[in-house]
Amino acid sequence: MILDNFVLYRPTRILFGEGQIAAIGQQIPANARLMITYGGGSIMRNGVFEQVRKALAGRIWVEFGGIQPNPAFGTLMQAVEVARRERIDFILAIGGGSVIDGTKFIAAAIPYGGDPWEILAARRSVVNEAVPFGCILTLPATGSEYNAGAVISRPETGDKLDFHSEHVLPRFSVLDPTTTFTLPDRQIANGVVDAFVHTTEQYLTYSVDAKVQDRIAEGLLLTLVEEGRRVWSEPDNPAVRANIMWAATVALSGQVGAGVPQDWATHMLGHELTAMYGMDHAQSLAIVLPALLDHQREGKRSKLLQYAERVWGISQGNEEQRIDAAIAATRAFFEEMGMPTHLSGYGIDDSGLDDVTAKLDEHGMQLLGERRNITLHDSRQILQAAL
Ligand code: NZQ
Ligand code: ZN
Repeated sequence: MILDNFVLYRPTRILFGEGQIAAIGQQIPANARLMITYGGGSIMRNGVFEQVRKALAGRIWVEFGGIQPNPAFGTLMQAVEVARRERIDFILAIGGGSVIDGTKFIAAAIPYGGDPWEILAARRSVVNEAVPFGCILTLPATGSEYNAGAVISRPETGDKLDFHSEHVLPRFSVLDPTTTFTLPDRQIANGVVDAFVHTTEQYLTYSVDAKVQDRIAEGLLLTLVEEGRRVWSEPDNPAVRANIMWAATVALSGQVGAGVPQDWATHMLGHELTAMYGMDHAQSLAIVLPALLDHQREGKRSKLLQYAERVWGISQGNEEQRIDAAIAATRAFFEEMGMPTHLSGYGIDDSGLDDVTAKLDEHGMQLLGERRNITLHDSRQILQAAL
């Protein structure tokens, strides 16, 4: 099998490095009716907002704060209302994946004619335009700063759904690794694990002899393991932060997955776990991935063996033993990052797992994985194995 045809389009200008926030004035049209979106206030405490204020001196803007982790539809609709009222025509998102994803939704919902919930529920692209926006990233994890996707939650109904549109590719994204020095340990770990799993979703499938994509993936995984371990002993090292930041951006930039089979079952199961139990996005992935790799070892055999050898240096033993060792190494790495890899680590038993499977069904996730052969029954087995 060989690579599929692909089109890769990224109009986003990346401004990488310390001090780049000062350059945002040139990226935002001078006469823009600007809205600034942010989360729970970390940017007020760590000096990021102060840098923005300086960079935009002399301008006026509307602020919308309070976008929560796993951004909620209801909150975002309040922002849409403000933006429509103020005739906002450019948005600046400052924060992690939740603020950026939330801003993508706001940007698409402002000009949307119908009920904006359709943007998420339609399961096909209904977005034909969006208000332009730029980002200042403060948490390397999701890659949202350089991609066309967003994931939005509706806690009242237990939904967590994604949408994709070229119209929500950011105009620019500032990646200043020094903004990440104030991240709590849990968020550092979340970022490394999320970027790791973004890479495996596009790499641990079946081989199509895509050497560039495979080696980009392996380079990312090796970097995330190396720097993910190092960040605990060298938290003030800007090089470590920079490597983690760029790895997370590249992991979901379209390069790894261009023309190759993609899995994403771990993410789909993980989203349901977050919607049901409220755990962080990356925590849900650390639980699902090891169990899923074990369950899917036949279909993923050749890639698991390649992963074992090239990422973990495992070359001893028969095929089963090498695959077992690679899965164990993955699990151990997540645990080393402080993340439990079993549902029991969060006090969760099997009593709600039928409900999780029912939500997968409701969301059209009856067949998952790179071969679309992970049935609801298989998903239930994977969750059971993750207890
Ligand atoms: O809200 P504030 O006060 O800013 O605090 C945040 C938040 O509490 C804090 N934080 C961020 N930068 C900080 C900081 N604290 C101190 N110093 C800093 N520099 O970190 C907390 C978590 O932030 P959040 O944005 O929720 O984290 P993350 O970037 O991991 O985003 C997770 C969301 O992205 C979605 C997830 O499902 C989840 O909803 N994803 C988006 C994807 C995409 N658009 O492509 C793909 C991913 O697979 C993922 O699903
Ligand atoms: Zn993710």
